[in-house]
Amino acid sequence: MGAKDNTTIYLDLRNGLTGACFDHLAIIVRSRKVEQALFEYLGLQAGYSRRAIGNTVTSMDTVVMHTPVAESTAAGQLQIAFMSGNDGIDTDGKKILSQISEYFARRGNFFVQHIAIRVQNIHTVVNAWSALGVKFITSDEHGPHILLDQDMGATFLQCFTYPVVEGSGTFLELKQITRPGETPLPTSKQFRDRNVEGLWEHVDRLIKDDIIFKVNIFGEPDLEKSLTIRGIPFPA
Ligand SMILES: [Fe+2]
Repeated sequence: MGAKDNTTIYLDLRNGLTGACFDHLAIIVRSRKVEQALFEYLGLQAGYSRRAIGNTVTSMDTVVMHTPVAESTAAGQLQIAFMSGNDGIDTDGKKILSQISEYFARRGNFFVQHIAIRVQNIHTVVNAWSALGVKFITSDEHGPHILLDQDMGATFLQCFTYPVVEGSGTFLELKQITRPGETPLPTSKQFRDRNVEGLWEHVDRLIKDDIIFKVNIFGEPDLEKSLTIRGIPFPA
């Protein structure tokens, strides 16, 4: 950090974010089946769907609802992922809340856990945001870690920021799918078990460390102060 000046960072961001668009919302619900039933009733279709993603004690069920498509889904199409938790019991018979239930207990039913933005070059955006002080849920001692999976000749890259504002738990996802020829993939193929599991593990760690509902995107407790100490001007 510090090697790049702000002009270079913003030039990188201009390149990295050009053409970026909405990918999906991920919403925590009490029971995935209920919202899935409603959205099917409203005319959407279920795409990617998995049960019991997590660990042996707690997990979640997830389904991605999307608007009808002929064969493939381009970025920008409406996609909403519903997630509901499966709680567990530890060896002493004590109830263990899944991370989804932890969210549910604090924020209630049907709220946005993350907003996913599809970008053309995730590395550029992650590096630039990191240089600006943004922290990532998916990171290790070496810095931001981009989750990666590959299938059908496509590469799936995802990286998740800390929650935008303290107390919310709601964070941003950066997502890039590269594929030779850039043919859009069917919606059910745009979500990857391995990356969902990767996010699960990282969120679990931040919940156990009691961080996720306390900090903002800079890993600090007060967003207004975080901006002020960095000299970031507020609009009129
Ligand atoms: Fe997501």
